[in-house]
Amino acid sequence: MNQLARLAAQLTTPLLPHDYLTLVDPVLAGSGFRARIRSIQPETVGSCSVEFEVPKSFPSHTAGQYLRLGVDIAGVRHWRSYSITTPQGSTSRRVLSITVKETSNGLMSGHLVRNARAGDLVFLEPAAGEFVLSQEPTELIFLAFGSGITPIMSMIRTLAARGGSPAPVLLIVGARTEDEVIFGEELAALADNEPWLDLVLWESAARGRFDVARLDQLAPNWRDAQTYVSGPSAILDQAVDLWAAAGLTEQLFVERFVTPLAHVDGAGGEVRFSRAGKSTAVDGSTTLLDAGEAAGILMPNGCRMGICHTCVVPLKSGQVRDMRTGEVHGEPGDIIQTCVNAAACDIEIDV
Ligand code: FES
Repeated sequence: MNQLARLAAQLTTPLLPHDYLTLVDPVLAGSGFRARIRSIQPETVGSCSVEFEVPKSFPSHTAGQYLRLGVDIAGVRHWRSYSITTPQGSTSRRVLSITVKETSNGLMSGHLVRNARAGDLVFLEPAAGEFVLSQEPTELIFLAFGSGITPIMSMIRTLAARGGSPAPVLLIVGARTEDEVIFGEELAALADNEPWLDLVLWESAARGRFDVARLDQLAPNWRDAQTYVSGPSAILDQAVDLWAAAGLTEQLFVERFVTPLAHVDGAGGEVRFSRAGKSTAVDGSTTLLDAGEAAGILMPNGCRMGICHTCVVPLKSGQVRDMRTGEVHGEPGDIIQTCVNAAACDIEIDV
């Protein structure tokens, strides 16, 4: 196959086979996958669902997984990870959807919510992630806060598409107000019509921040269930502690959208991006990924939270600080994740 590709490349030089495919149909070309936005549906204020027409060969996903989405903005391709909200097993229809909530510093989310249009070309990588629906016919509790509902929505929709869950499901959805609950109307209709699903809405503006200790009242049997938690780090941390104290860690599944990063003062230094031929001075609280992008360098990236390893680059000199643990590390030649490391001194990286 590689020989064939090499031969095709020789015959089509100076353009590559990929380029000719692009001329015929951009969706066919390239490694990875290309897709067209089929529709954009507003959800709450500042959030929308984006539906893609994906190629037939796009691998199917498991409910709860995410995909990496690439979008060209002002001539630069940006990549982010988004949970798939489509039910499992639906890729045969060649349609997938994600739901995006605009954040104050989210270039991609802002573009998708405000500027993207049906027909736009986007880039996809196959679904990944371990936060997936259990195959066991067990009682389930879902705790979903804010945009943390997105992977759980795929699970709920999957159960509904299968005709229901064999065991009871409790879904606790948290948002500031009822109007801010993403998929609020669909979830209410499901809870009305599906006997296996109980829905509890937690409006933090009226009831205060949710505390997982409340499960003793809302779901006294939580120790017998499998629980999925998706949302802000504070709630995930609470859940991890509670389940660990109960000795039930294997019954808890958490989805983190943001990796907590320490902000350490006093470190930092001059970062040299050797291939780009640029240097910039950064503090110890700025990731190398953010520093590179701020300097106008096209940095490889994906989840931006230390999970996917798409952002790795070789370290040529100096040392970096892991912002999750505070550990200073690195030898020349080490591969480092730029999304979770900051400069600990003057450094050079091969990008
Ligand atoms: S971007 Fe995913 S690990 Fe860095």
